Amino acid sequence: MVKSSFIYLSLVVLTSFVLMGSTCTSNAKKTSTGHGYAAFHPGEIWLDTDSVHINAHGGGILFHEGTYYWFGEHKVAGRGGNRAMVGVSCYSSSDLMNWTSCGIALPVATDTLSEITKGCVIERPKVIYNEKTGMFVMWFHLELKDQGYAAARTGLAISDKVSGPYTYVKSFRPNAGIWPMEMTNPSRDTGKYNHLKWWTPEWRKAVEEGLFVQYDFEKGQMSRDMTLFVDDDGKAYHIHSAEENLTLHISELTPDYQDFTGKWTRIFPGGHNEAPALFKRGGKYYLIASGCTGWDPNAARSFVSNSIWGPWEALGNPCIGPDSALTFQSQSTYVLPVQGKEDAYIFMADRWRPRNPIDGRYIWLPISFEDEKPVIEFNEKWDLSVFE
Ligand code: DGJ
Repeated sequence: MVKSSFIYLSLVVLTSFVLMGSTCTSNAKKTSTGHGYAAFHPGEIWLDTDSVHINAHGGGILFHEGTYYWFGEHKVAGRGGNRAMVGVSCYSSSDLMNWTSCGIALPVATDTLSEITKGCVIERPKVIYNEKTGMFVMWFHLELKDQGYAAARTGLAISDKVSGPYTYVKSFRPNAGIWPMEMTNPSRDTGKYNHLKWWTPEWRKAVEEGLFVQYDFEKGQMSRDMTLFVDDDGKAYHIHSAEENLTLHISELTPDYQDFTGKWTRIFPGGHNEAPALFKRGGKYYLIASGCTGWDPNAARSFVSNSIWGPWEALGNPCIGPDSALTFQSQSTYVLPVQGKEDAYIFMADRWRPRNPIDGRYIWLPISFEDEKPVIEFNEKWDLSVFE
């Protein structure tokens, strides 16, 4: 009896320890091989403080109460390893180089009827903190199990603790029944487009006019590669690839960050942009994105605007030097403003390994600015002193 109570108590204590995320509050320890990182080594295996390769792909970072939290896709080995078999992982760090695992912030569900059941696809999770509600809000790209990339939904999970556990709330296609702010006189006659062949000039013109916006008007706009951005005034935005990945959409989130207000815009219709990463510098909004070549790298592109609602101006490929045409074999995921440093931004990208996704690598590089344009150059070893 005493023994079983002890086992029960130990289990309760252990479970609460894991759920509270207490495992990641200390960043003091370095990797168990005895070293701590003193520099970034883009493209190399990046060990956490337990000496395990960091498993947080397509990720984003939240800075909260003096600590950085890295959320990303947990991948498994082998073909098919992109499916969500475990969930969204979380790591913490105080110096951006040495990361401690906080475990799984959002676990996949064992219930086969759940939208986030094991085997679904969860990509590019991003977490933001809502000052008004005190809640941590995670949005991510969700594809339903066994449906390929057809669902094209955004998913929401929330927690009152930064490292989770996050509770899954819902998923949907955004802005159902709502036109973007610039489509003031929308056509609903999609039939007139039916004869158009993809990639012809007529079809491209129709895409610009909103062909896919019209097709998806009732069921909601597609939402695949995504990111979040919180502005200085506390308003948050959800930026995602829509319209068969042909056009990026920017949507305003509600004050609690847990829904869409219905205010939204399209940028670069037909521009074929994925992997959006948005940041603000000197009052201007910058966006870095990729082209659409699946898991294969392509040239990054950058954009600038005085307002999040546009007009956006294309600035071209921010990458320079060898391999810049393939973004140094990677694809953007997030731009991280470094705390406490002036004008310090880190470009975060994924070097995907689609045949063995768990082996995917991280390309983190400093962004410099020339004539107000972002510039990214490969550097096989660098540290935060580059910002000084
Ligand atoms: C490219 C995207 O940017 C990735 O996030 C992922 O969705 C792959 N396509 C899937 O092919």
